[in-house]
Amino acid sequence: MFDKHLIPNAQHLSEGSALHFQTEQTDFVIVKQKGELFAYENRCPHQKRSLNCSTEPFLDEEGDYLKCHHHGALFTPNDGQCIAGPCQGKALKRAILGVEKGNFYLLIGENNAAVA
Ligand code: FES
Repeated sequence: MFDKHLIPNAQHLSEGSALHFQTEQTDFVIVKQKGELFAYENRCPHQKRSLNCSTEPFLDEEGDYLKCHHHGALFTPNDGQCIAGPCQGKALKRAILGVEKGNFYLLIGENNAAVA
C-alpha cells in the first residue's frame, strides 16, 4: 500500500529539466529525459548531501546529466548511475512514480519506503 503525493506541475516539466519535490520526511528530484519522468531521492551517494546547493540547478550546464554541485558528480537521468566524480559506479536511489488522470504522484510505502 502506498501513499500518493501529488507532484504539482510535473506533467508540464519540459524536456531536459528537473524540479525539486519534498515530502515531510524526504527530498526528491524529478527529471524529464526523452519524454519520460524519473524520480530520485535528492541525496548524493558520495557524502549523502543534497545534489543542489541553494539556487544551483539540478542539471549540468548542457542539461544532459543530474549534477551534484558539492564535488561535481554526474548522474544519468534515466537510471541515476554516477558516471563521473567521486562516487562513480554508485547510483542515486530511484523513487516510485505513478500517473493518474495526467497527474504524477510520488508513491511512498510503509516506513517511508519511496525508493525502489
Ligand atoms: S557530495 Fe556529491 S559529489 Fe560529493
